[in-house]
Amino acid sequence: MKELKNVPTHIGIIMDGNGRWATKRGLPRNYGHKKGIDAIERTIYACLKFNIKYCTFFAFSTENWKRSKEEIDGIFSLLRDYLKKEDNIFLKNKIKLESIGVLDPFPDDLVAELTSLKNKTKNYDKLIVTFALNYGGRDDIIRAINNLLEKKEKKITEKDFLLALDTKNMPEPEIVIRTSGEMRISNFMLYQMAYSELFFPKTYWPDFDEKHLYKILKKYQKRDRRFGGVR
Ligand code: IPE
Ligand code: IPE
Ligand code: MG
Repeated sequence: MKELKNVPTHIGIIMDGNGRWATKRGLPRNYGHKKGIDAIERTIYACLKFNIKYCTFFAFSTENWKRSKEEIDGIFSLLRDYLKKEDNIFLKNKIKLESIGVLDPFPDDLVAELTSLKNKTKNYDKLIVTFALNYGGRDDIIRAINNLLEKKEKKITEKDFLLALDTKNMPEPEIVIRTSGEMRISNFMLYQMAYSELFFPKTYWPDFDEKHLYKILKKYQKRDRRFGGVR
């Protein structure tokens, strides 16, 4: 792998295909989610290697509550165990953990692990990994509007609005990746993605690794980002 120039500051990842990965192998869907955690781990190491500063993983959407209780509980317990590991990737590599989305409906033990690790890593700044949990782009926008209304703002600018979103502490993602071949956004960062470069690799999320990310970053270098202007 040759060295990469012009790497994005922020990549957003819509991790999709865990269920199909498992079903294809005759395994329960939650086994796919388990393998999905390994792919998160690999991707975080790849971000460190490629000097990406922010990586946001879409882990649970505001719509994912429609799934069976068994699947939802399985996802929560995998996440909790992942965050609970003593030698976890965040502490070991000085990575800051963040979250976006509304945590209230999650089980207390999951929120406790997440909050504890967020606190322990809050001063790190080499890489900021964010989990989008009970996150929806529409919900983010509506909550931002309500926050601004509470402050009795009469007129707001785009900057005010960006600062009212869950993503206030991070730049907009230059790249958004959705795995599994589906070509939709499924309510990820709707406002923040206005000018993101989109990539839809066919790989199911549990198979995603450094090589896939490298290929995407190479392709990104060739994209002509005009932002409405003319080259
Ligand atoms: C993504 O994989 C993980 C979550 C949405 C939590 P899926 O579970 O959506 O996998 P498919 O799309 O059913 O294959
Ligand atoms: C998007 O995947 C949400 C996450 C990756 C967390 P889904 O599998 O839930 O999206 P749809 O249902 O295919 O649109
Ligand atoms: Mg899916």
